Amino acid sequence: MRRPWVAGNWKMNGLRETNALLAKGLSLLAAEREIDICVAPPAPYWLQVVDAMEGTGVRVLAQNVSEHAGGAHTGEHSVSMLQDCGLAGALVGHSERRQLHGETDVVVAEKFAAVRKAGLQPVLCVGETLDERRAGETLSVVSRQLLAVLESQGPDAFDGAVLAYEPVWAIGTGLTATPEQAQAVHASLRAVMAAFDADRAGQLRIVYGGSVKAGNAAGLFAMPDIDGALVGGASLDAQEFLGICHAV
Ligand code: G3H
Repeated sequence: MRRPWVAGNWKMNGLRETNALLAKGLSLLAAEREIDICVAPPAPYWLQVVDAMEGTGVRVLAQNVSEHAGGAHTGEHSVSMLQDCGLAGALVGHSERRQLHGETDVVVAEKFAAVRKAGLQPVLCVGETLDERRAGETLSVVSRQLLAVLESQGPDAFDGAVLAYEPVWAIGTGLTATPEQAQAVHASLRAVMAAFDADRAGQLRIVYGGSVKAGNAAGLFAMPDIDGALVGGASLDAQEFLGICHAV
């Protein structure tokens, strides 16, 4: 059995006051012990949210992390800083990092390795653009993104990690992949992993992201290879996020 995993990626939203309100709403999640729940606030608010979530079981993730250990990398933050602030892990390779900040498969794999070596949880994000889907390239794109880590670090690199399938065309657009569309990709990703290690493939949590809401979450979670969600916009509303967590 794979333990469900749901995370809210706040992206570049929120200020101290709204964070406090959102965190207060999320503290109702304290009773949720059957699933792993995380939130990923912007870096300036890590400590605020770590403090607010103390005792709730909700863990805090970074939205991004440097592949470098430290030094002259203006504007970046290291895995040591994540650890020092009490974070549990980091997203790597979110499509907004790949598309807007030029992160390549190689850089994403380096970030994944840095998070893993620090003993934190890496969340590898993969997904195709609308043009790639229309060209029939969905599986080749997401497989390439997964293989960039698998081939360089081996299947054991995914112990404790999470793989997030996020079709770029479904992110923030209101266009959710149908449960069947998402399931097909999740099953293919698991098959890619199984070619390396069938047991680990069976244990790997593969979550879906892209316009997940309380109203469509149950249909997605009913699919055999969908183990949770990486939620963007809907995670900024505590009730909506609670609804998603309850739909698992
Ligand atoms: O990290 C979250 C994804 O980008 C999904 O965002 O739920 O706003 O579509 P969204």
